[in-house]
Amino acid sequence: MGVESFLDEVLNRVKEFLNLAQQTDVIRNGLPHDSLRKTIDLKLPIEGHGIQSALDDIDSVLRHSVHTTAPGFMNPLWGGLSVSSIAGELVTAATNTAMYTYEIAPMATLIESTILTRMGELAGFSTSKGTLTTGGSNSNLLGLLCARQSMDQKSSSLGFDGRNSVVFVSEEAHYSYSIAANVIGIGFLNIIKVRCDEDGRMRPDSLEEEIERALQAGQRPFAVLATSGTTVRGAFDPLRPLAEISHRYNLWMHVDAAWGGACLLSNQYRSLMDGLDLADSFCWDAHKMMGVPLICSAFIVKDASILRQVCSTGTEAHYLYHGESEDVDLGRYSLQCGRRNDALKLWLAWREIGDAGWASLVDRFMELATYLELKVEETPELEMASSRMWTNVCFRYVGDTAPEDLNELNAELRHRLLQDGRFMVSKSTIKGQIILRSVISNNQISEQSLDSYIKRVVELGQDIERGLPSQ
Ligand SMILES: Cc1ncc(COP(=O)(O)O)c(C=O)c1O
Repeated sequence: MGVESFLDEVLNRVKEFLNLAQQTDVIRNGLPHDSLRKTIDLKLPIEGHGIQSALDDIDSVLRHSVHTTAPGFMNPLWGGLSVSSIAGELVTAATNTAMYTYEIAPMATLIESTILTRMGELAGFSTSKGTLTTGGSNSNLLGLLCARQSMDQKSSSLGFDGRNSVVFVSEEAHYSYSIAANVIGIGFLNIIKVRCDEDGRMRPDSLEEEIERALQAGQRPFAVLATSGTTVRGAFDPLRPLAEISHRYNLWMHVDAAWGGACLLSNQYRSLMDGLDLADSFCWDAHKMMGVPLICSAFIVKDASILRQVCSTGTEAHYLYHGESEDVDLGRYSLQCGRRNDALKLWLAWREIGDAGWASLVDRFMELATYLELKVEETPELEMASSRMWTNVCFRYVGDTAPEDLNELNAELRHRLLQDGRFMVSKSTIKGQIILRSVISNNQISEQSLDSYIKRVVELGQDIERGLPSQ
């Protein structure tokens, strides 16, 4: 089989898979891993099976993949369908290159720089530099590394005794900070969790108290890590007062906007991140609300020299860098050497729909989240588990069940929902209560799909209350 007909066959299969996601009721077939392992042939052969068999393998991969572009997919903070971005992924693979130098990735280098500059502008940074990373977790790691470098300019070259150094995050921040604390050498126990208000936002007064307490205990605070769009509730920390406190104590301020960063694209919702311009760095995942396929995460910093120091190696990588495009080469601002071109898919999508298209997308997602929230409120069997600021709609089934049994019921409900296969949402916990976190970050969701979702949740909740077994 020639390259051309092979690729045609592959594309046909991909198109069929994407079409199926819109038509099927079952977005996940739910086979347990031991059954799936027995069902498909995963072995790596001694003698190759040939290109034709790759088509069979692709068929089996597609058959057993979750339909993350289906309207019922509301589980993680990403999903949906962007055809131009999928095309970008194909072209990225076909033009297979690494992002370290202009020499080897001319167009991709300029594209990535254009995107990062634009994101810096949207944040209101007067100067900025950045890099695309392997995800929001690693963008947060870069934020912490920059903070460490800013506190101790020798830390990148001589190392650092971080046992006494502390950073502050909201008690609802993403777990990636713990890993980052481990990697930068302070250890995750040196992360101080700051209390949140009723709505899940870091309290500025509590931050100040914690900083004072740490100073009195002889600890060395060096960064405040705020969140714009928390993982479970979608809360936005109040950046302006937090930045004011950070500056007063001479602390680096990094903002994790992996999830909420897209609000900067909407006139209506940009104010959720009011004060971002006062931060030192932030991250923003385009693979979340912007619907670009994973991974596409940006880390942006105001002071380029800090990022350059963090990513410097001491010995010049003479086999890569030759000086002539020093200002343009992106490898000097990345923790990676080989790095894939994640910029193209975002650039193609941005060129396709423009700033106006992004604004409509964010506004539409918020409209759908409001719709879902209203549906929950008008359904007697359900109750919201938290106020809503973003498109995370957190609720639980209450029905006629006693309060002490609600956790068990909602855990079972989520389990049945998953088995049912029509809707996928996450099981999370808010203040000890098990809730269903339904996220609107998938452009295939509609009012109709949300109606069916609520109907199904109520049916399953009632089944459980009546003691009916799972079907
Ligand atoms: C608030 C927040 N920050 C960071 C991350 C990590 O992003 P990634 O999965 O791209 O590493 C997540 C993931 O959901 C998140 O919710």
